Amino acid sequence: MSILIKNGHVANASEEYQADVYIDGEKIVAIGANLPHKADKTIDATGKIVIPGGIDPHVHLDMPFMGTFSSDDYETGTRAALFRGTTMVIDFILQTQGDSLYNALRIWQQKSVGKALADYSYHMAVTDFNRQTADEVVEMIEKEGITSFKTFMAYKGALMIDDGQMVQLMQVVKKHGGMVTVHATNGDMIDSLIAQNKAAGNRAPLYHYLSQPEITEAEASARFADMLFYTGCPGYIVHLTCEGALNAVREATKRNQHINVETCIQYLLLDASLYEQDFEGAKWVMSPPLRQKKDQEALWAGIDQGLVHVVATDHCPFTWEQKQMGKGDFAKIPNGHPAIEHRMELLFSEGVSKGRISLPKFVELSATNAAKKFGMYPQKGTIAIGADADICILDPNKKHTLSAKTHHMRTDYSAYEGREVTGKVETVLLRGKVAIENEKCLLEPGYGNFVKRGKVK
Ligand code: URP
Ligand code: ZN
Ligand code: ZN
Repeated sequence: MSILIKNGHVANASEEYQADVYIDGEKIVAIGANLPHKADKTIDATGKIVIPGGIDPHVHLDMPFMGTFSSDDYETGTRAALFRGTTMVIDFILQTQGDSLYNALRIWQQKSVGKALADYSYHMAVTDFNRQTADEVVEMIEKEGITSFKTFMAYKGALMIDDGQMVQLMQVVKKHGGMVTVHATNGDMIDSLIAQNKAAGNRAPLYHYLSQPEITEAEASARFADMLFYTGCPGYIVHLTCEGALNAVREATKRNQHINVETCIQYLLLDASLYEQDFEGAKWVMSPPLRQKKDQEALWAGIDQGLVHVVATDHCPFTWEQKQMGKGDFAKIPNGHPAIEHRMELLFSEGVSKGRISLPKFVELSATNAAKKFGMYPQKGTIAIGADADICILDPNKKHTLSAKTHHMRTDYSAYEGREVTGKVETVLLRGKVAIENEKCLLEPGYGNFVKRGKVK
């Protein structure tokens, strides 16, 4: 099958220009003005933006968490992602404490193989570091193409590792060419604040926010940076939300340290005032919580200053019924919210359409940097000859309204209900196949491939 995309405005992280793009099989084989190629299918992209398919490197599909499972599985989650321009996701495998990384890998393969519609990879969350884990880390990098290792400085008793384990993990990962990523918050301090609030009878979702103050994230980010500095391991902070944590990263640059930073779309657009309503605020209970407007400003500035490299989602959806598990006890509200479908359009609308970022910067934040940092570039994250034909065609002027009535995620509420966005994803290609056209998904479960990733450069 060959496809010719005619006359689009092509944008990569480094440049933008008017061109045709010719695809043969799974790959891009020609780019240029007025290409002479004859194709099985021609897509007229006049007036449209042609960009690399989005890569969301932070999603939780079918994840066991807080006594339930995130409500999107690999089929529903990756289909929803494709609908609005995300062609690849990186999910998190969770090691069960006391069990092996390989057992965890097998469980996640059962969740994903034959079910995913979009391409995917896994980060391996190391929740129990010991001698056997260390050996398995090496095998993950060398044999399985899983080169990033997630750590949690919070969720004690389930996911958290201590600083000694963290440093030992970093030493092994550095030696073998991987990256350590982190949920950087001070778990002990948070647990103590949760206990204090509960003892005082403070049970509403607002107290989830008040139990995770900015300082818990700033402190842990600085501590993580120090451990990276000591070990020399490449590191990546996931879902960074606030000015204090960003300042810890900024401080590290003074000793010429580079730390990769991801924020998520919700931290750029939503703020903690959403918790000032009764149980309704549970819709946005996530960790870290939404912050203040001054933090949004710091994050947008951080993008401009080159301190924030990736915008992800931390998609971890629950239905409204699942959220009821925390009625009367904020600490039992499953943490997370639905977002996988809306990241590309929200970032385009609030970033590019509102003039906060350029179109190439949008591509860098939504696709290219994730591909580069996680060992998939230039197979993914760019429109280039030889790259996978993962392409998103977007009408920059079309407005539409986000709603649970029309979204494709398996949740019955939207974190963005009624929000109007400017810019609509119309056609999506994944490895040379039309995935989305005329508001229909044309791919079947199982089309999505596991992407083996390279070492960190
Ligand atoms: O609230 C969140 N973020 N849920 C998913 C797990 C995590 O910490 O990323
Ligand atoms: Zn997290
Ligand atoms: Zn997460």
